[in-house]
Amino acid sequence: MKNAVLAATALMLMAGPLLAVDADSGKELYDDVQIERDYQGEHRTDISCETCHDTAFYERSDRKVTTYAKLEAQVEGCNTNLDVGWFPEDVADVAAYMNREYYKFAKSAE
Ligand code: HEC
Repeated sequence: MKNAVLAATALMLMAGPLLAVDADSGKELYDDVQIERDYQGEHRTDISCETCHDTAFYERSDRKVTTYAKLEAQVEGCNTNLDVGWFPEDVADVAAYMNREYYKFAKSAE
């Protein structure tokens, strides 16, 4: 029993870095997202990632996101705040997509 738990733990630890980050699937997630919430006094069901900030916001020169890790953290921040429901691997894919498209940090995965 103990060995089975240990083996399962080891498998989980090994699986992490093996998960491939997929910017194309990130693009789909990003494009398809429809968030339901109140926005500017209106109940909406069609809020996208560009309702609050358009792509120019990602490319502004004084942006706070200065590393790939910060980009991932911000995607996770909006995911959590807005109850988007993306899993960690989804967040990683979306970050990879946004990096490819807008941020262009050299390192695409930690
Ligand atoms: C309800 C409004 C709202 C929506 C919808 C929203 N965000 Fe945000 N997002 C913000 C705000 C506000 C900030 C700025 C936070 C800050 O500067 O601390 C932000 C910042 C970000 C940043 C960092 C931008 C930068 O370069 O400084 C990223 C990346 C991001 N959001 C991703 C997303 C993604 C992906 C989605 C779609 C799931 C999304 N956001 C949807 C409000 C929103």
